[in-house]
Amino acid sequence: MATPIPMSTLKSGAKIPCVGLGTWEAPKGEVGNGIKSAIEAGYRHFDLAAVYGNEKECGEAFAEIFKSGIVKREDLWITSKLWNSEHRPERVLAACQKTLADLQLTYLDLYLIHWPVAHVPKDEPEQTDSRGFTKIDHVPIAATWAAMEELVAKGLVKHIGVSNFTVALLNDLLNSCKIQPEVNQIEMHPYNQQWDLVEYCQRQGIHCTAYSPLVRVGTVHGLPVNVMTDPVIGKIAEKHKKTPAQIAIRWQFQRMPNISVIPKSTKKERVIENFNVFDFALDDEDLKEIRALDRGFRVCQPIDFFGLPVFA
Ligand SMILES: NC(=O)c1ccc[n+]([C@@H]2O[C@H](COP(=O)([O-])OP(=O)(O)OC[C@H]3O[C@@H](n4cnc5c(N)ncnc54)[C@H](OP(=O)(O)O)[C@@H]3O)[C@@H](O)[C@H]2O)c1
Repeated sequence: MATPIPMSTLKSGAKIPCVGLGTWEAPKGEVGNGIKSAIEAGYRHFDLAAVYGNEKECGEAFAEIFKSGIVKREDLWITSKLWNSEHRPERVLAACQKTLADLQLTYLDLYLIHWPVAHVPKDEPEQTDSRGFTKIDHVPIAATWAAMEELVAKGLVKHIGVSNFTVALLNDLLNSCKIQPEVNQIEMHPYNQQWDLVEYCQRQGIHCTAYSPLVRVGTVHGLPVNVMTDPVIGKIAEKHKKTPAQIAIRWQFQRMPNISVIPKSTKKERVIENFNVFDFALDDEDLKEIRALDRGFRVCQPIDFFGLPVFA
């Protein structure tokens, strides 16, 4: 019998599978097959976003999967995200409905505010500022959040959360919300462990999902930062007869309870490899050695793509 997928419990009592499939830069023509391979491998958690530009193909894959009867809609945890250009409260419902239509779904398990950054909507004439970045729109997070809460009331989304939120932003949001954010999706990997933020979230009952858990693999920002060739990760992988990717994934939900992790691949063998992490455990020495790798390195540098030092 297959090992049951470890689950985390959200504040509401809902269960989220600890390992899911990421879909950022999963190209059209590949993402659907990636989802199908993942379902066959046992994944039940999928991380999507409107801005990834591939939700239609994801929706076609889900429709085929449900039709085949392999799994039912209620067996899956499907997350999507509100893009920056849709923060104005009057735009939130339409953005969510567009995602649902593309995905051919009647509800999402989780809808996240993708970034704590509002951009002017794409249909406005003045799009860029003098530096060439998309213009910032002055929408309070609390106003966007209230519109997210209405999506729950309408039954379009079961849970709501945020992504890329710092302690200060979460603290502020917790003072004004009616429904508390249940998840904060953040960059986390051995080179950016975010202990303070995760510990704060845990105290508030906010689950953390780790994105870019494999540090996107390879050269990032021109630096040869690669968790897959890290000697410490390599040594631990050898000890457990696992791959470096499996060590980096397992570490996420073993180092603390209430963390899920969403490695991305569209290649069948890697999709399978990344899910094959439930039949071993890291020991205290492994955890100590991985902890020492933390260097606050970020893959996602919003100063580069939004012109804003979001994490300053
Ligand atoms: N909320 C946010 O702002 C945010 C930001 C970034 C990411 N995310 C989410 O988190 C997901 C994961 O993060 P990510 O895509 O940035 O990076 P990642 O999962 O750290 O790395 C993905 C890269 O690793 C390769 N890869 C995957 N498994 C591998 C394996 N076993 N061996 C060797 N290479 C492997 C993939 O290539 P192939 O596909 O060619 O296999 C891809 O190039 C995203 O897809 C997205 O869903 C969210």
